[in-house]
Amino acid sequence: MFASSLAAGAGNIFLVADDGGDVAGYAMAQSVHDESELLNIAVSPDRRHRGIGSLLLDAIIDRCRGLGASEMWLEVRASNAGARTLYETRGFVAVGVRKRYYEAPREDAIVLRADIRTLARDETVPAPEPGLTAGRADSILSPASHFPRQETR
Ligand SMILES: CC(C)(COP(=O)(O)OP(=O)(O)OC[C@H]1O[C@@H](n2cnc3c(N)ncnc32)[C@H](O)[C@@H]1OP(=O)(O)O)[C@@H](O)C(=O)NCCC(=O)NCCS
Repeated sequence: MFASSLAAGAGNIFLVADDGGDVAGYAMAQSVHDESELLNIAVSPDRRHRGIGSLLLDAIIDRCRGLGASEMWLEVRASNAGARTLYETRGFVAVGVRKRYYEAPREDAIVLRADIRTLARDETVPAPEPGLTAGRADSILSPASHFPRQETR
């Protein structure tokens, strides 16, 4: 999933929250025509509850809207109360359940959907130049390509 999100593709969006050179969090989404899907979002455990997750979610919604998406879909573990609260504040509503979708531990996925045309922010996050941090509206966000590739095991 990471590799395909990092690959060049008009609908692939991968944002990194850059905290002084450290990866504080990331979000990845795919946007095709009027539909987009949030593939993953995460904030480093020691940097949670500082608004970084909200910033990443708002920014990636803006990017998808900028590509023409009017709705966003995602799946979340039923027990993931923190993420579900974050999504609810952005207008996501549960529209279905995928039974026993996740493994380790086995758990249902809740399918959430939001009409992102109505999730308006005051400004649109400016598209960053390749390799540079984004503009004032979300100054800690960078495209993932800003970071050197690292092999992980
Ligand atoms: C979900 C996640 C990205 C939120 O990141 P974050 O930077 O802590 O989010 P924010 O600081 O912007 O929090 C926004 C709001 O979300 C809600 N929230 C976030 N984490 C929460 C938690 N553990 N419990 C309850 N509410 C939570 C709160 O309403 C919070 O506002 P508050 O901190 O003012 O109360 C982060 O907890 C995370 O990385 N979790 C592990 C990965 C994950 O589950 N990703 C979702 C996959 S579907």
